[in-house]
Amino acid sequence: MNLIFFIKSASVDINKYTIKNIPGSSGRLDVISRCILAVLLNDNKFEKKIQIWIFLDKHGTFIFDSELLEYENFPKNELLLTDYLVRLIQKKKSRIEFGDNPLRKVQISEMRIIEALKKFINSGYNVFILKENGQDFFKVFQKIHSKKDVIFVIGDQCGNFLNSEDLLTLKIPILSLGTRSYLASSIIRLIKLNIL
Ligand SMILES: C[S@@+](CC[C@H](N)C(=O)[O-])C[C@H]1O[C@@H](n2cnc3c(N)ncnc32)[C@H](O)[C@@H]1O
Repeated sequence: MNLIFFIKSASVDINKYTIKNIPGSSGRLDVISRCILAVLLNDNKFEKKIQIWIFLDKHGTFIFDSELLEYENFPKNELLLTDYLVRLIQKKKSRIEFGDNPLRKVQISEMRIIEALKKFINSGYNVFILKENGQDFFKVFQKIHSKKDVIFVIGDQCGNFLNSEDLLTLKIPILSLGTRSYLASSIIRLIKLNIL
């Protein structure tokens, strides 16, 4: 299965970033870093054929593809990953070489999330939104398990985008893992546990 997670953040802003206070100085880039690690890591290796697309309103789109990234030098803790991600965004902005940044194999795109969703839907991907209120995931995950290409759209720390008109217009099925609100990174692990 080709499994992709999409997460969009309107809050991430690295202009006042300091490693001493990541949540407060980056608009919660820490949430994004935790989601990247939750998607890619599987014990001491990367998951196969898995991607996470990060849509940052202020900084562009970053695609982490487990088939392109090097596990050995990939930053495996939230602090290191966030710091390298900030440097990647800064270098992208000033168009200078990424040098030895272990994230240099991360693909960078200007594609916005709605455009990307339409592209994947048109190319036959099965797309689902994960939200606290929706169809019971555990009633349909067997069916999803048999699919070849799947995308899950997940909310950031506030999840506002999931209620946006633009997204709802696409009429994408909404799945819930119960009414309790989990961290986005925990939901990703639960999905992988059940789907992979
Ligand atoms: C921390 S939650 C977002 C906060 C939450 N929406 C709120 O109103 O406080 C992060 C994201 O994880 C996903 N999520 C959290 N709990 C979930 C659940 N029980 N079922 C499905 N998705 C869930 C949703 O995509 C949500 O937007």
